[in-house]
Amino acid sequence: MRKKIVAGNWKMNKTLQEGVALAKDLNAALTADKPVCDVVICTPFIHLASVNNEIDKSIIGLGAENCADKVSGAYTGEVSAAMVKSTGADYVILGHSERRAYYGETAAILKEKVNLALANDLKVIFCIGEVLEEREAGKQNEVVKEQLEGSLFELSAEQLSNVVLAYEPVWAIGTGKTATSEQAEDMHAFIRGVIAEKFGAAVAEETSILYGGSCKPSNAKELFSKPNVDGGLIGGAALEVADFKGIIDAWKN
Ligand code: 13P
Repeated sequence: MRKKIVAGNWKMNKTLQEGVALAKDLNAALTADKPVCDVVICTPFIHLASVNNEIDKSIIGLGAENCADKVSGAYTGEVSAAMVKSTGADYVILGHSERRAYYGETAAILKEKVNLALANDLKVIFCIGEVLEEREAGKQNEVVKEQLEGSLFELSAEQLSNVVLAYEPVWAIGTGKTATSEQAEDMHAFIRGVIAEKFGAAVAEETSILYGGSCKPSNAKELFSKPNVDGGLIGGAALEVADFKGIIDAWKN
């Protein structure tokens, strides 16, 4: 059975002290009331080592929001996959639409990042999703398929088992405009079909596909009720313990 996962993406929020306090509070809340899904928090690089010391890793996984497309060396300001791993992190988000749009991350660059992350024993949360104009033109499936092909199709089936996919329609991110559960289900089923075609049905069945984009405690249960939605990648609502826990608890009856 594939994993149910709720992952938080803190983006560029929280000072070190605020982030450590949030992780501590979340850890206390989830220790007192254990989740029935996997929980991951993805934080800015500077928080990773400190947050790693505050969380029970059997309850909360830790991840970065990015890593470099190079191994090491003269790349001022970059953080390598090996550095991320050395903090205690087990995951890295790659291909987020904000990285693609604001930092020029292409499918080819992302392919390098994915390869380096996997080589350094990090699990990858790989984001895909269309912008509004692409959805309005009915091109969302084509766009998402190209994103998968461009960065993941040279992986082996074994490597792909360490990749979690996150469908994040760009028009739903931070806008309060969630995809309907039917839109999410349609796309997730399509994505699973693309993975099945390339890597085989058994691999596709085991691949967790998360939904991201204005996911909140009030809509998480409905989204997670769909057969191909295996959890969420949460932005704004991951910054408050009550909201994030509300989404985690959507997996409970
Ligand atoms: P919001 O939940 O704030 O819409 O962000 C989603 C997201 O981009 C997670 O990676």
